[in-house]
Amino acid sequence: MKMELFSPEALITEDEIAHRIEELGYSITKDFEGQELVVICVLKGAFIFCSDLIKKINLPIKLEFISLSSYGDSTQSSGSVRLDMDITANIEGKNVLIVEDIVDTGLTIKTLMDIMKVRKPKNVKLASLLYKPSKMKHSVKIDYLGFEIEDKFVIGYGLDYAGRYRELPYIGILNAGN
Ligand code: PRP
Repeated sequence: MKMELFSPEALITEDEIAHRIEELGYSITKDFEGQELVVICVLKGAFIFCSDLIKKINLPIKLEFISLSSYGDSTQSSGSVRLDMDITANIEGKNVLIVEDIVDTGLTIKTLMDIMKVRKPKNVKLASLLYKPSKMKHSVKIDYLGFEIEDKFVIGYGLDYAGRYRELPYIGILNAGN
């Protein structure tokens, strides 16, 4: 049995997340009806959102992973993005859906969009579970958004603080007491 050592305050519950993901999956299925989709999961933070989202998309999917990091072990964006691991598929002429956990300053997704566009996909759309408008520096179009949130450091459901809390089943707020 797993010991419960902490239970951060919930911002978005498991039920709210599940309900929103069903709606997003439905919209994506409708928008790409009859077409194949290359889904790119941005590691590490998006791994839980992406795995739940693709189960709600009723299309032929090819799943790819890419790993980018900007935060290191800090709560502040470092201002530069490192490509740690690239996708393996050729996306030329394909419908691509990038799946992110959060758009904060927008730097990660802007960098990723720039990397993808030179590879000549048919189109590139973005799904993000969370969006923090107060931190936005690089304007980014989120085609499928889960929730807009205020300027709190959020953890859980894939999102970490210094590598921890990714396994929480809901989105919580990191407080000094955690
Ligand atoms: C987080 C998050 C996004 C990015 C958003 O990744 O998963 O990719 O930051 O911030 P931005 O909009 O300010 O660029 P992080 O670098 O913490 O890596 P991780 O996903 O491996 O935790």
